[in-house]
Amino acid sequence: MELFEAIHGRQSQGKVKPDAVPRETIEKLLSAAVQAPNHYKVRPWRFVVLTGEGRNRLGDVMAASQRDRQPDLPQVAFDKIRSLPLRAPVVIAVGVDKPSEEKVVEIENVCAAAAACQNILLAAQALGLGAKWRTGEWARDPKVKEFLGFAPDQHLIAFLYIGYPEFTLEPRERPSFEDRTVWVEGK
Ligand SMILES: Cc1cc2nc3c(=O)[nH]c(=O)nc-3n(C[C@H](O)[C@H](O)[C@H](O)COP(=O)(O)O)c2cc1C
Repeated sequence: MELFEAIHGRQSQGKVKPDAVPRETIEKLLSAAVQAPNHYKVRPWRFVVLTGEGRNRLGDVMAASQRDRQPDLPQVAFDKIRSLPLRAPVVIAVGVDKPSEEKVVEIENVCAAAAACQNILLAAQALGLGAKWRTGEWARDPKVKEFLGFAPDQHLIAFLYIGYPEFTLEPRERPSFEDRTVWVEGK
C-alpha cells in the first residue's frame, strides 16, 4: 500500500475478529515502530505485547485497579472491565522511558513513543489489519503499570488493539488542516 493511501485510509477500527495474528506480522509492526524519530537516539519506547491468556491477566489487573478506585461498582461492571482486553487478539501496551540524562527532556521521549505508536497504526493499515489506540484511566494506574513492568512515574501512553477487521470502514472526511495552520512567508 502506498504511504499516502495508508495515512489517509487509517481510521480507528474497534471491531476486529478474534483470529490470531501471526507473530511475524506483529514483529513487522514493532519493527515499523522503532523507525520513529527520537531525540538523542534514546529509543524511549517500551512495548509489551499481550496475546492469548496474557490479555486475561491484563483484564484481571484492570478490574483490580478499577476496584481500588470504585470499590462499590457492581460485580457485572468488574466483569466487563476484565473482558476489555479480549476485544482484539493483540494488545500492545506502550510505555515511555524517563529521561536518563539531564539533556533528555521527558516530553520529547513521549513524542518519540507517540510517533512509534503512529508507525504501528500505519503499518497495521498497510498490512490490512484494524487497529485502535486506547487509553482510559487504566493507563494512569500504578497497578496496571506495575503489571506491565513500568514504574509508577513512567508514562503508559497506549494500548494498541490490533486484529483483522470485522468489516471495512466507510471512508471518512476529516476536517482540513487549514483552520489549524498559519503560514509565515517572506514578502
Ligand atoms: C492518546 C490517545 C488516546 C486514545 N484513547 C482512546 C480511548 O481510550 N478510547 C477510545 O475509544 N479511543 C481512544 N483514542 C482514539 C481516538 O478516539 C480516535 O483516534 C479519534 O476518535 C479519531 O478517530 P480516528 O482514529 O478514526 O481518526 C485515543 C487516541 C489517542 C491519540
